Amino acid sequence: MARILLIIGGGIAAYKAAELVRHARKAGHEVTPVLTDGAQHFVTPMSLAALAESPVYTSLWDLKDEVEMGHIELSRAADHVLVCPATADLIAKMAAGLATDLATTLLLATDKPVTVAPAMNVKMWQHPATQRNIAQLRADGITVLDPDEGPMACGEFGPGRLPDPEAILAALPLDSATTAPLAGAEGSLTGKHVLVTAGPTHEPIDPVRVIANKSSGKQGFAIAQAAAQAGARVTLIAGPVSLPTPFGVSRIDVTTAQEMHDAVMTSLPADVAVMVAAVADWRPQPSDKKLKKGDGPLDLKFSKNPDILAALGDHPDRPGLLIGFAAETDDVIENAKGKRERKKADWIVANDVSGPPGESVMGGDHNTIHLVSADGVDDWEEATKHAVAQKLIDRISEEFS
Ligand code: C5P
Repeated sequence: MARILLIIGGGIAAYKAAELVRHARKAGHEVTPVLTDGAQHFVTPMSLAALAESPVYTSLWDLKDEVEMGHIELSRAADHVLVCPATADLIAKMAAGLATDLATTLLLATDKPVTVAPAMNVKMWQHPATQRNIAQLRADGITVLDPDEGPMACGEFGPGRLPDPEAILAALPLDSATTAPLAGAEGSLTGKHVLVTAGPTHEPIDPVRVIANKSSGKQGFAIAQAAAQAGARVTLIAGPVSLPTPFGVSRIDVTTAQEMHDAVMTSLPADVAVMVAAVADWRPQPSDKKLKKGDGPLDLKFSKNPDILAALGDHPDRPGLLIGFAAETDDVIENAKGKRERKKADWIVANDVSGPPGESVMGGDHNTIHLVSADGVDDWEEATKHAVAQKLIDRISEEFS
């Protein structure tokens, strides 16, 4: 049994929220509906109250409710918040952090996991503004379900339909201890400190030029986000990337490998370290002045950068679970096994980064993983970087259970 705070947005699919309430009640869940002004044009508070067998909330200015149950309390009394249907307008308000009515105020005040089930016209769904807002919500740690594809109430065809209420309920992590909590809430990694490095490093050549690599930071950021959602205290040490900080994560921005090394060491102790960053192995001696064309041919001299993962493997404060990544283009498994032993890591998460530009893992949204541990090699199916992150956090949680 779970307690669901159901926020109903003002779209034609709102009638399906009523059906969802019926299914949720049948499954033994408690549902507290909240209707936006728009939603009340499609469904009535009265019918929702009857189906939910619960009071229905509509207005922030309903003083009686503030006395009986303040909006902060209402936002936290549930185990899970579901926005269904989530209109383009409601999604935009969530992404911007607006609190203009009861629904948006509750969404801003909640400390519980939030799932969003969007439903809207196909063009509205595909609009760059909506897609930008969806990406923002996901980066904030909110689960956004993909809409179904098919004929729509407006006569068009495409993605934007609300999935079946039963499918939405099944997608809620109501029974999962590992996916439900938000950072700071009780979860499978509550009380643990998880240290994550992510992104590339930049090694300066002169005041305006750097040696860099194609790492986007997406996989490391997704791992930091999943760890925070599992209740961990997360320190994310990020190289130069333009990604938003996941909700509940403490971020330290660095530029060079040496700075990343120093930030990792001063962030110890940690229970888990996941070293995802693509750290430059070598750094040139940078020129104080911008190098001119006429200065060539260039003769750069490189010194070795510290190996952060190996340094942690030898550290007196070595994290209890030390995880490295290995981006390889050939002999993926063999190289990963060697790396695990050399760097004294517990696990190496190996991935093949070969592939034509544009389809490479580096910068892409998908990853295919081989988890190399003392127990052998576990091959994971190709998945999104968010799914890989969640699976890795589940595996980490198992180590502590
Ligand atoms: O040796 P290689 O760079 O392939 O090893 C990859 C793993 O080692 C990754 O976990 C990466 O974050 C880590 N690493 C590091 N410091 C370096 C080089 C790599 O922590 N200087």
